[in-house]
Amino acid sequence: MRAVDLIIKKRDGHELTSEEIRFFVRGLLSGEVADYQASAMCMAIFFRGLTFAETRELTREMMCSGDTVDLSAVRGFKVDKHSTGGVGDKTTLVLAPLVASLGVPVAKMSGRALGHTGGTIDKLESIPGFDPVMPRERFIDSVNRIGIAVIGQSQELAPADKVLYALRDVTGTVESIPLIASSILSKKLAGGADGIVLDVKCGSGAFMRELDQARLLAETMVCIGNGLGRKMDAMITAMDQPLGRAVGNSVEVDEAISTLKNEGPGDLSHLCVQLAARMLLMSGAAGTLDECALLAERSLASGAALEKFREFVENQGGDPTVCDTPGIMPRAACEEVIVSHRAGTVSRCDAFLVGRAAMLLGAGRLKKDEPIDHSAGVIVYKKIGESVESGEPIAKMLTSEPRRLGDARPVLENAFAVTDGPVAVPPVVLDPLRIFCSSQE
Ligand code: URA
Repeated sequence: MRAVDLIIKKRDGHELTSEEIRFFVRGLLSGEVADYQASAMCMAIFFRGLTFAETRELTREMMCSGDTVDLSAVRGFKVDKHSTGGVGDKTTLVLAPLVASLGVPVAKMSGRALGHTGGTIDKLESIPGFDPVMPRERFIDSVNRIGIAVIGQSQELAPADKVLYALRDVTGTVESIPLIASSILSKKLAGGADGIVLDVKCGSGAFMRELDQARLLAETMVCIGNGLGRKMDAMITAMDQPLGRAVGNSVEVDEAISTLKNEGPGDLSHLCVQLAARMLLMSGAAGTLDECALLAERSLASGAALEKFREFVENQGGDPTVCDTPGIMPRAACEEVIVSHRAGTVSRCDAFLVGRAAMLLGAGRLKKDEPIDHSAGVIVYKKIGESVESGEPIAKMLTSEPRRLGDARPVLENAFAVTDGPVAVPPVVLDPLRIFCSSQE
């Protein structure tokens, strides 16, 4: 087989066989497929697309290109959640202990911040002592003992995807639904969960800006996951404005703890309950989605979810008193508010720009492996549909480095628009989808 023949085949709109996809993926790591050939293949896929069978095979091969986690030693039905990435998205910090508090094991690998989107592991590392690294046996033992462990994604997971993603990033081929679906799922499925709930974000701060594209991505991932033997469910949720009011690291942990105390912002609490309900339903915790949502609400109200979070933090070396004294986390040395220049109603609070401002303040990174400032971020005081007076604070910038304020300020100011008259508060769940299916293999 020759890479060039496969590129021509795809360029001309024909379907690749499983053997051809296997050759291509293995060639990415062995060097038999050169970077320029892989880039050309990505462009051919970008324009020609992939069939369902091709996308499933690409996912399977990339998943099998590295380490796959065997969770069979964990008792019970293991559930996971994946968000396609957003701004202020701290749902994992709430969901994981919430679901675990109801007896459903969560053995989760999470990522780090990149670009304008945050990463769960960076957020957790705001907690003094928290360690996201543990040997596989301890990971499994933790889940069996306390029902929850969240660790950093292994470097060995889906290495073929790493090669391909790096090339897509510099060749204008990121925005292809079959390539995004196979990239996300190759890593997620390698994580070993029996069931996965997808939170597909849609809006200015997300990969998918349009609802029909987000729906197509969600449906593709559900079908591929099913085709590879996992239970899958998905919902499409809004990412035109940040989720909750805190964007950063320690400030997001603060907000997650408030949510676990049942005092969180409405959009975040609602989304956490809805995602938890799907995870619980999948695992058979109750018979209907409404019953599962009720279980989740009760766990938040009773404090059981917060107690599970405390246990989880302590098990991973973190200081559990963070639940009572969040001030033990890094706090920004400099703060600056931005104010509204007119009275009216907020009509825009652009997630991408708020996320970018938080990154410029030091909360995120442009390149992998850059250090981050755990104290940095943005607090959004006014969201879409909320009224504001002239001169009233609309958001606050937080950073340890005063020189960063100047770069972030115009970006954050641009994120907001204020208009006359009422503006409807947008829903957080754009499409509940309900395309839950059981595994087929
Ligand atoms: N996240 C991924 O892991 N891969 C993509 O292609 C897009 C988002």
